[in-house]
Amino acid sequence: MNLTLRIWRQRSPEDKGSMVTYRVEDVSPEMSFLEMLDVLNEDLILRGEEPVAFDHDCREGICGACGMVINGQAHGPERTTTCQLHMRHFSDGDTIDIEPWRASAFPVVKDLVVDRSAFDRVIQAGGYITAPTGSAPDAHATAVPKAAADYAFEHAECIGCGACVAACPNGSAMLFTSAKINHLNVLPQGAPERESRVLDMVSAMDEEGFGGCTNTGECTLACPKGIPLQSIADMNREFLRASTKRGR
Ligand code: FES
Repeated sequence: MNLTLRIWRQRSPEDKGSMVTYRVEDVSPEMSFLEMLDVLNEDLILRGEEPVAFDHDCREGICGACGMVINGQAHGPERTTTCQLHMRHFSDGDTIDIEPWRASAFPVVKDLVVDRSAFDRVIQAGGYITAPTGSAPDAHATAVPKAAADYAFEHAECIGCGACVAACPNGSAMLFTSAKINHLNVLPQGAPERESRVLDMVSAMDEEGFGGCTNTGECTLACPKGIPLQSIADMNREFLRASTKRGR
């Protein structure tokens, strides 16, 4: 199929940026979205033009590095990562708008690449445990209730791609932050930092300039791993519990 792409081009963080139109031809429906961009970039390089910068690593829906707004939707029309989106979801003759994540806490580095290090700083504030877990057999010595294990796994699926922030009209990172807090707070190994974790990570999230949650639910709809909206309510409950306990 032949497509028209309107892509956000921005040379540097200081550059104003604009949408630039390109044509790509003979795109296979079996290609991934990133492979389609590879084809465009090969063509641009052959023509002596600057290729489009975009982030990616695993291309298997695991690392969370890829991510762009496609036709106004974070990661495009499917509930998956951009690298796992395939061109069969588009039609011959389509015009596709491609933009970087739009959020003040995720400044554009170049073209479709944004700086998501704000997420790293939220994790650094409390997304860890200090309990020695030892080797795998030792870890089994601490019994974890099945319901808690399932809950922890569900929330640990978050790959930190940032689609929740990009989809939210407030640029809120509460779905990401709640997933990272909840998956540790529910486990016995995460109990020693249960209060400090939620207080410090929420504080870091606010300091990074993410917006607040107004329950629009766009975050959970855009999340490629299906982190539920309930996660935010659970984090708020943890925050209230910790604040009361610490007298804050
Ligand atoms: S490149 Fe790793 S999730 Fe897409």
